[in-house]
Amino acid sequence: MPLRKWEEIQKMSRENGMSKDSKKKFGFSTRAIHIGQEPESVTGAVSLPLHQTSTFRQKEFAEYDFDYSRADNPNRRSLEQNIASLENGKYGIAFGSGTAASSAIFSLFEQGSHIILSENVYGGTFRLVDKIFSRYNFTASWVDSSNVDKIEQAIQPNTKLIFIETPSNPLMRLSDIQLISKIANKYKILFVVDNTFMSPYYQRPLTLGADIVVHSTTKYINGHSDLVGGIVVTNINEIDEQLRFIQMSAGAVPGPFDCWLTQRSLKTLAVRMKAHNQNALKIAKEIEKSAKILNIFYPGLKSHPQYELALKQQFDPFGNPGFGGMISIELPSLEDAKKFVKGLKLFTLAESLGGVESLVCHPSTMTHASIPESQRKEIGISDGLIRLSVGIEDIEDLLNDIQFALDR
Ligand SMILES: Cc1ncc(COP(=O)(O)O)c(C=O)c1O
Repeated sequence: MPLRKWEEIQKMSRENGMSKDSKKKFGFSTRAIHIGQEPESVTGAVSLPLHQTSTFRQKEFAEYDFDYSRADNPNRRSLEQNIASLENGKYGIAFGSGTAASSAIFSLFEQGSHIILSENVYGGTFRLVDKIFSRYNFTASWVDSSNVDKIEQAIQPNTKLIFIETPSNPLMRLSDIQLISKIANKYKILFVVDNTFMSPYYQRPLTLGADIVVHSTTKYINGHSDLVGGIVVTNINEIDEQLRFIQMSAGAVPGPFDCWLTQRSLKTLAVRMKAHNQNALKIAKEIEKSAKILNIFYPGLKSHPQYELALKQQFDPFGNPGFGGMISIELPSLEDAKKFVKGLKLFTLAESLGGVESLVCHPSTMTHASIPESQRKEIGISDGLIRLSVGIEDIEDLLNDIQFALDR
């Protein structure tokens, strides 16, 4: 009897989240909980079994569903189906880290290609392009992607890719995904959005015209600070085929247990994101009142220069605006930043973001240290800049913690 239900759910997975009424997709949380996660067919286990294996028995020569876990693994396949569905994409290709996922995207192009990137991307993405892909004669233009004209002006005959982060890390600048996709289409250039900060709960770039979405699943998608992972999602069959070839050939794949953990975490993505968003908005509104800060960067504040754009492209599956859990604040000096961080008890000084626990980071010595100082200053990453990843602890405790640290 339960088998019938499994068959239905399996069918639903194949059809990427469509309900029986095939014109209607299941809701976001239903997909997060069910896609790629049908109860196991032998025992009926509701929690997906962990296939912690490197290799698989073959019935005959070359007759198998899975052969070797670098090429494919049931846990990885389930995770790929699940995240693809949440991003409204057809294909998901998982990697061992967000950086490995971005690296696979850059590997799509021949040596000598030109790429355009947001000037204010994650420091590791900068290092990857500046120090590794430059060896293959890649050239890069780092532009303020919040200004679409600057992107168009940077296009060269050999430009193959536009790669943006919105909101950007750590200055929370937004770029207009729809407008950039028009430019990318006009010049037939692939357009990638790093959606790590918003997660598919609050922003779905493929529906706004992007060709490819990339995530560090280390962050909100997994959300528990206990693994490193990445994924690429696309609707373009040819890109899927090429990325799958790179995934298998270069081999930067996630292990089955990490895929299992990430999939387990996805079931609560919607509730976690709502809580991150609620807490961050309250904290940002409180910090904004403080005379101790020079600047605050949070797209949910009306004072953010791109608040209107945030309303236009960042919203949950029901249409409610969402701004995420990341806030950056600028204090007058490095000394002030040090004092502030020392005063915090609940926010832990650590790299990374997007976990249930609140973290604080000093971009110029941590996440963005690989960007030369002059370039950092030019784009606005000062020594007094602090980035908060607001967790889902009780808001009163977080507010008290910040207030105490600011009073120092
Ligand atoms: C926006 C963004 N993209 C990509 C990455 C890289 O991800 P990973 O650390 O999983 O390689 C990070 C890491 O902090 C990030 O913040």
